[in-house]
Amino acid sequence: MRVDQAFDEMARDYDERIRRYVPHYERLVQHAADLPATVVKRVVDLGSGTGAVISSLLSQSDELYITAVDASSDMVELLERRFADHHIDYHRSWFQDLDLATRSYDLATACMSIHHLDTQEKADIYAKLYDALAPGGRLQLSDLMIDKTDRGHASFLELWQQTVMQQGGSPQDWREIMEHYDAYDRPDDLSTHETLLHAAGFSRVEVTFQRGYWISLRAHKD
Ligand SMILES: C[S@@+](CC[C@H](N)C(=O)[O-])C[C@H]1O[C@@H](n2cnc3c(N)ncnc32)[C@H](O)[C@@H]1O
Repeated sequence: MRVDQAFDEMARDYDERIRRYVPHYERLVQHAADLPATVVKRVVDLGSGTGAVISSLLSQSDELYITAVDASSDMVELLERRFADHHIDYHRSWFQDLDLATRSYDLATACMSIHHLDTQEKADIYAKLYDALAPGGRLQLSDLMIDKTDRGHASFLELWQQTVMQQGGSPQDWREIMEHYDAYDRPDDLSTHETLLHAAGFSRVEVTFQRGYWISLRAHKD
């Protein structure tokens, strides 16, 4: 099964499951969607899912032009229903195929979606987003940032499992998380993200939130 099909299957009960599965989920969304004090009008959200980041953005400003990108047809249909009263531009597209106009966005956001790309694909999307942002624009990214070959990876998994159980998850939930993680998740560590973002042209990369390997970054384009 492809990753878009996996999310098609998950769309209906995604909101309830993600809060049990991803530690600090609400904070990760909040940091990805944090609107800067500067004027922001045009936003592109990568891997919108059921629209947590979009919803947070719209609660902060009703003057945003949002482009939502997701490969899952079911997620895009759900977004269209959820935000029927808002003008949002939907792209049912792979990030890898995405064509964004140069200097056309003030803010790019991505919450828990970039880890589905391999390292080269991350480098490519960061370069694409750098080009798509206007000068002064930002990329705000929240994700799991650990390499699966990291020495700390086994203890990270143990801690994650404990958190899932504390958040009301079951052994069956944990099995499903691990099946998904093995099949579709390709996280890279923080320093790899920082290196790729600088290589794409971003001048400054700040960590705005960190609990272990659950991290939010803000990358600036001069
Ligand atoms: C874990 S969900 C995150 C959704 C939302 N941003 C949130 O924070 O709840 C990841 C989303 O990214 C989408 N996705 C994953 N890989 C993708 C890719 N390569 N191109 C486009 N969309 C992708 C999936 O369909 C899914 O809706």
